Amino acid sequence: MAVKLNEKYLAGFVSEEEIRKVEKETAEAVQTIKNRNGAGNDFLGWIDLPVNYDKAEFEAIKKAAEKIKKSCDVFVVIGIGGSYLGARAAIEYIKSPLYNALAKDTPDIYFAGNTLSGTALDELLSICDGKDVCVNVISKSGTTTEPAIAFRVMREYLENKYGKDGARERIFATTDKEKGSLKYLADQNGYQCFVVPDDVGGRYSVLTAVGLLPIAVAGCDIDKLMKGAADAREAYNGKTGTDCERYAAIRNCLYRKGKAIEILACYHPFFTMTAEWWKQLYGESEGKDGKGIFPASVIFSTDLHSMGQMIQEGKRNIFETVVDIKSTGAKVAVPGDSENLDGLGFIAGQTLDSVNRKAFQATALAHCDGGVPNIVIEVDGKNEYEFGYLVYFFEMACAISGYTLGVNPFNQPGVESYKKNMYALLGKPGAENEERRKQLLARLGE
Ligand code: PA5
Repeated sequence: MAVKLNEKYLAGFVSEEEIRKVEKETAEAVQTIKNRNGAGNDFLGWIDLPVNYDKAEFEAIKKAAEKIKKSCDVFVVIGIGGSYLGARAAIEYIKSPLYNALAKDTPDIYFAGNTLSGTALDELLSICDGKDVCVNVISKSGTTTEPAIAFRVMREYLENKYGKDGARERIFATTDKEKGSLKYLADQNGYQCFVVPDDVGGRYSVLTAVGLLPIAVAGCDIDKLMKGAADAREAYNGKTGTDCERYAAIRNCLYRKGKAIEILACYHPFFTMTAEWWKQLYGESEGKDGKGIFPASVIFSTDLHSMGQMIQEGKRNIFETVVDIKSTGAKVAVPGDSENLDGLGFIAGQTLDSVNRKAFQATALAHCDGGVPNIVIEVDGKNEYEFGYLVYFFEMACAISGYTLGVNPFNQPGVESYKKNMYALLGKPGAENEERRKQLLARLGE
């Protein structure tokens, strides 16, 4: 079993009887997902993706990844939200957060179009100078402003550098199979396209071309990734009494007892972006209709020196979910030192990972004493298989949890509000935009 729930640090916070009550509802949610008759059921393509994916496209992704590896030093992945978080999470988890700085035979990978910061794009352009560059622009809708602007900039850059024909060979578009301005632009220019299936939402799309192409370019084995997800599907899909369902039940149970904030914690920086991916998955899926567990994240022990005080003694409305990665393969140990001036002789010879494990146990006990329950999710290792397994675990648990909470876990209506205001303030043509613009400017006093 690649992923296992450990409930040791929940004692005294929730009783078996309380969890059992919620499990009646999570069992119904499992059934709803299986029968595909719940809200948002036209976005359930992620359930069977690990086995039911487009095999021809999968091979095309591998081929494109090889071409990209051979033809560039810098690979720019343009996308926002679900169109970049999964790929970045996978690369950092499987390879390293320092992937670009490591010696390797694959291109450096930079993520763009996930911000409107001019500084970020200026810096990227200067990194690209003097290097060969390829671009993967990813947008399911094909209309999102942030990636569209970044793509305009990168396309101009590539066309100036390589000419229109040369740029065509270096641009790869991942988008809807037929609609959206990105699809139109890609077809007009003859870019190779990959498809985001209609029935897979952005935050559930890491196992489609959205995630797979950048992950393959980084040199990760996408067959193993899919195998991990397929084994998790086998373990969880349509099944009750699983650790996946139990995680959904426990977090809902804690929520009902006033624990409205879930902090996902891990003791390894390579998990930072996986936590960001998880935050989008749970935040967008559950935060609606005035409900939702607020998803936050920390990397320990780093954040014990910043957020530790708040977690230990602040408002008691939080619980932690600790992802405990059992084996990382790290070898570094605390060196012996005959002078022992720093007083660390008592741990000389111990690996950092074993010291880290003691930090985890010590923290979990301290936080429990401070009134913060800890759910622990044990993961065997740090590779493609485990990552794929964990992705599916969290996706299925999120769907079960969302239905248990009583929301549609597959829509995100609230994301539109800022966009409408931004388009109006930017002066996008259209009567509705103009009217909104007047109202907003009056509120801004401009
Ligand atoms: O989960 C979602 O649907 C969103 O976060 C999207 O992934 C994000 O807004 C990017 O959308 P798109 O891929 O259409 O550009």
